[in-house]
Amino acid sequence: AAVAAVVPAAGRGERLGPGAPKALRELGGVPLLVHAVRALTRSRAVGLVVVAAPPGGVAEVAALLDGHGLAGKDVRVVPGGATRQESVRLGLAAIPADVGTVLVHDAARPLVPVEVVDAVVAAVRAGAEAVVPAVPLADTVKRVEPREPGTPEPVLDTPDRAVLRAVQTPQGFRRSALHDVHERALAEESAGGLPPVTDDAGLIERFGGRVVVVPGHEEAFKVTRPLDLVLAEAVLARRRA
Ligand code: CTP
Ligand code: MG
Repeated sequence: AAVAAVVPAAGRGERLGPGAPKALRELGGVPLLVHAVRALTRSRAVGLVVVAAPPGGVAEVAALLDGHGLAGKDVRVVPGGATRQESVRLGLAAIPADVGTVLVHDAARPLVPVEVVDAVVAAVRAGAEAVVPAVPLADTVKRVEPREPGTPEPVLDTPDRAVLRAVQTPQGFRRSALHDVHERALAEESAGGLPPVTDDAGLIERFGGRVVVVPGHEEAFKVTRPLDLVLAEAVLARRRA
C-alpha cells in the first residue's frame, strides 16, 4: 500500500466521562473507532489501517473490527501506549517499509468526510512533508495566566483570530519525516526533555520541518466531551435522512 493510516485509539476518554474507553463508545450503535476506520477505508488511496488499541484490548478491538465488516480490508491492531504520541509511534512501527505516505487519524473523529482524507493525501503527494486539515475559529481566543479552578485568570493577550486555525485529523506525512521526528522525540524524552505533543504536525514543527494547512470540515470535529456525542448523533441522523 502506498498510503497507510495510523489510528490512535488507546485513550481513556476522561473528558467524555465514565464508561468504556472512548474509541469503543457508540455513535448510532457503532463504536467511534469503527466509524473512524471506515471513514479512512472509504478513500481509494488508503490501503492499510493500523489501529493502536488500548494496551489490554487488542484482541477485543480486532474482533470488533471484524464484526463490523472491516475483515476484508487490510486493518491491523497493535497495542497503543500511555500517551497519544506513543500510540502513534507504536502504530507507525507496524507499517511496511514500502509505504511512502502515512496518515494519522484520531479514533475520536468518527465523521470526517472522505473529501478531507483525499485532500490531505493529495497535498502530501504534491510534495508537502506534513499536511494538516484545519478550520477557522468561531470563538475569539485569549492567552491567560492559568490559575486554580474558581480563581479568575489574568488575560495576557488576544491573538488575531484571522490567523488562527483549529487543527483536525487525518494529518498526512511523508513517512520518513514522521518516523524521524517520532524517534527524535523519543530520544529527547528519554534524556528528560520535552513533554509529548498533542498532534503529530507539532513534532514536525518542533524539529524545524514545514507544515501546511488544507481546508478541514466542520464534521471532522473531535468527540471530546458529552455534548460532542450529542452533536455527532445529530450529524449522523442528518446523513441517514
Ligand atoms: N490516544 C491514544 N493513546 C493515548 C491517548 C490518546 O491513542 N494514550 C488517542 C485517543 O484514543 C484519541 C486520540 O488519541 O483517538 C485523541 O485524543 P483525545 O481526544 O485526548 O482522547 P483521550 O485521551 O482518550 O481523551 P481524554 O484526553 O479526554 O482522556
Ligand atoms: Mg487525551
